[in-house]
Amino acid sequence: MLFVEDLDVKGKTVFVRVDFNVPLNEKGEIRNDMRIRASLPTINYLLARGAKLILASHLGRPKGKPDPALSLKPVAKRLSDLLGREIVMAPDVVGDEVNKLKAGLKEGGLLLLENVRFHPGETKNDPELSKKLAEGIDYFVNDAFGSSHRAHASVVGIADFVPKCAAGYLMKKEVEYLRKALHSPAKPYVAILGGAKTEDKIPVIENLLNKADDILIGGAMAYTFFTAQGFSVGKSLVEPDKIEIAKKILNKAKEKNVNFLLPLDHVLTSSIESGTVVKITDAFPFPEDLMGVDIGPKTIAKYSEIIAKAKTIVWNGPLGVFETPAFARGTMKIAEAVAHSGAISIIGGGDSIAAVEKAGVGQKITHISTGGGASLEFLSYETLPGIEALEKK
Ligand code: 3PG
Repeated sequence: MLFVEDLDVKGKTVFVRVDFNVPLNEKGEIRNDMRIRASLPTINYLLARGAKLILASHLGRPKGKPDPALSLKPVAKRLSDLLGREIVMAPDVVGDEVNKLKAGLKEGGLLLLENVRFHPGETKNDPELSKKLAEGIDYFVNDAFGSSHRAHASVVGIADFVPKCAAGYLMKKEVEYLRKALHSPAKPYVAILGGAKTEDKIPVIENLLNKADDILIGGAMAYTFFTAQGFSVGKSLVEPDKIEIAKKILNKAKEKNVNFLLPLDHVLTSSIESGTVVKITDAFPFPEDLMGVDIGPKTIAKYSEIIAKAKTIVWNGPLGVFETPAFARGTMKIAEAVAHSGAISIIGGGDSIAAVEKAGVGQKITHISTGGGASLEFLSYETLPGIEALEKK
C-alpha cells in the first residue's frame, strides 16, 4: 500500500476521501471537530507540495438525495478557520459545474465537494459514480479511516478508476496503532466493551478471546449475557436473538481461560427519561419494573483494579447510559482509570471519546481513534474494505 509521501503530487489533481462526519447539534452547529483536525496533516502536506486538492466526505445519512440539514457548509467554514484560508465549496458531488471547478484548480488550491451521500450511488458503490468522481483525478488518497469499513463509491469504488492510490497520514497512524494492538500487545491486554448492541460487538469479542487477558463488559449489552446465564434482569435492554451466541461466547471464554467479566453491581432506574437512580444492587432478580443503566461502585472498583495492571487497553462503548448525568458515573470513572493506568490505550467510538473528554483525560490516552465502527471492524477482521482497495492497487 502506497503512502501519500510516495506520490509526486506537485501540479497533480489529488482526490482525498476524508471523514468529516462530525456530530452536529439541533442548530446544525459542529459539536466536535476532532475529525476535521485529524485530517489536517494530510491536507497541509498536499497543499504545501503544490497539489490541486479535492476533498470529499459524507455527513450523516441523507438517503441518496440532497438534504440541506446535512450540507457540508458548516464543515467548510470550520476547515477554512482551521486552515486560515478561503475554501471553495462545490454545489454538488459530480456534474458539469463540479468538473469546471475541478479544472479551474491551481497548484495549492482546494475544493470541497458537497456531501457524497447526496448521490444515491455512493452507498451502493456504484461504478458509474466512482468513474465520475475519478474524472480528471491523478491520485486518490484515502484518509477516511472512520469510513473505511464502508464499501462505498468514494471509499472503495473510486480506486478502480484512478491510476495511483495511497493512504493519508491519519489512515497510516490509525492502522499502525490498531495493528500493534492486534499483533504485539504488551500484556496484560485488557479490552473494555460497552454500548447497547451485542450484535456490533460479537465479531470483536470472538477475535479478542484469542488475544486479550481480560474482557470487561458493561452497557446494556451485559444484560444479554446475564439473560444467557438465566438471571432475570427486569426491564433492562436485552437482545433475545443474541442470547444463544452470548452463551457460546461465555463458554468459549472459559475454554480459552480469558477473564470475561460482567458487572458485579448495577445502577437501576424505572426509566431512562426519569434521569434518577432508584437503587443500586448486586443481586438478581431485578425488580420487574426496573432496568440497569450503569455499572455500580463494586464494578467500578474491580474493573479499575484490572485496568491499573494493564499494559494495553482497548476500549469501545460506554458502560452505562452516559448521556444522562445520573447514569454516567461508571463510564467517567473507567475513563479516569484508563487514563491513569500508564498502559497503551486505544479508544474508539463517539461515546467513549466524549467520556474521556468530559473526564478531562483525553491527553492521557495513547490513541483516540476517529473511527467507531471502523476501529471495531478493524479489530475484528484486521482489515477494512477501504484499506483492501488501496492494497489491491
Ligand atoms: C462513522 O461516523 O462511524 C463513520 O463516519 C461512518 O458513518 P456511517 O456509520 O453513517 O457509515
